[in-house]
Amino acid sequence: MTKLTINDRPVQYKMAPETPLLWALRDASNLTGTKYGCGNGDCGACMVEVDGEAIRSCLVTLQEVEGRFVTTIEALSRDRSHPVQQAFVAEQAIMCGFCTPGMVMAAAILLKKSDDPSDRDIDEAIGNLCRCGVYPRLYEAIKRAGRVMRREERISAAPPPGISPEDAAKAVPSLRMPEPEEPAATDSES
Ligand code: FES
Ligand code: FES
Repeated sequence: MTKLTINDRPVQYKMAPETPLLWALRDASNLTGTKYGCGNGDCGACMVEVDGEAIRSCLVTLQEVEGRFVTTIEALSRDRSHPVQQAFVAEQAIMCGFCTPGMVMAAAILLKKSDDPSDRDIDEAIGNLCRCGVYPRLYEAIKRAGRVMRREERISAAPPPGISPEDAAKAVPSLRMPEPEEPAATDSES
């Protein structure tokens, strides 16, 4: 049994300790926003935050993240309001979208450390691959998100998607609110 915290919730996995974190997130927790791209550490589609660092979840095992705090794209914000998410939409830095969750996680972690990154900082932090070639827009989006975080700019909210964030979260078991427990029967009620 491996115990860790995912998206602020304690989780125990009965999977083999050498299981990659990516499989546990996707297959056991249904957190499918973390994408399975190459499985070899090359593409960055599986990027998550582990104790404040950007980690490719296909490269770490459950036993390596025992007791640690993991954040996935699902918990970056429940209403898509994180400045990086807003800036990606505003700058149209999304084409097919497959690489987007990993890109957004890497960008958000970079901006948490430095909200005014240089091109070189972005080069070093974002090694993610995008087969659609959004790179020029990606740089603009990250810099714009930085301006939002520095309160130099505001981005109008993107049009709402066809499903409310709350309903989307209900489809992800690990993000569901626990059902209220039935009161236990007592002898006096029998
Ligand atoms: S799936 Fe992890 S780096 Fe590609
Ligand atoms: S937007 Fe298609 S892979 Fe990046």
